[in-house]
Amino acid sequence: MKVLVTYFSQTGNTEKIAKAICEEAALANEADLKKLEDLSSGDFAGYDFIFIGSPLHASKLAGPVQEFLGSIKAGSGQKMAAFITHFSPAYPDQAMDEFTEPIKAACKEKGIEYKGYFDCQGVLAESLHERVKKKQNLTDEQWADMVKQMTGRPNEEDEGKAKAFAKEVLA
Ligand SMILES: Cc1cc2nc3c(=O)[nH]c(=O)nc-3n(C[C@H](O)[C@H](O)[C@H](O)COP(=O)(O)O)c2cc1C
Repeated sequence: MKVLVTYFSQTGNTEKIAKAICEEAALANEADLKKLEDLSSGDFAGYDFIFIGSPLHASKLAGPVQEFLGSIKAGSGQKMAAFITHFSPAYPDQAMDEFTEPIKAACKEKGIEYKGYFDCQGVLAESLHERVKKKQNLTDEQWADMVKQMTGRPNEEDEGKAKAFAKEVLA
């Protein structure tokens, strides 16, 4: 099977997960790792299975990922799975439907089989800490706890979980 792992990543978190997924996919497939910005919508058709990755931006998929989904020129019999990183620890306990909806809708429209998503925490860029702390109205203590939870993420455990997800959806 020909597998594409494509992603948008500004600070490397989503890229880390993309690399882990690609490593797993390459064990039994021909797998390519490509940044979304290096991909043209036509490239897409040559793959049997596509993993697409995005950070959460303002509770949505990142703009370039949303845009790309609209421009896909699908081949036949393709499958797609998503991976998402976010700084908030709350998301794993919440339904991610809101974030995966645009991916599911694009798959439906283009006749691609949607295979599910993986998500994990990713550290928030330092430059945004003050703004987010204020916006979420958190005390110093609450924010310190938040920072503690996101520091070092995605970690080895996250990468391992991403690989297990890839193995499952590719099977
Ligand atoms: C503009 C912007 C908006 C963000 N909005 C959210 C958000 O709504 N919820 C969240 O949990 N994380 C949010 N984040 C944090 C990122 O999703 C998180 O740090 C992600 O792991 C970054 O991935 P990257 O390193 O691949 O760019 C936001 C980050 C940026 C830059």
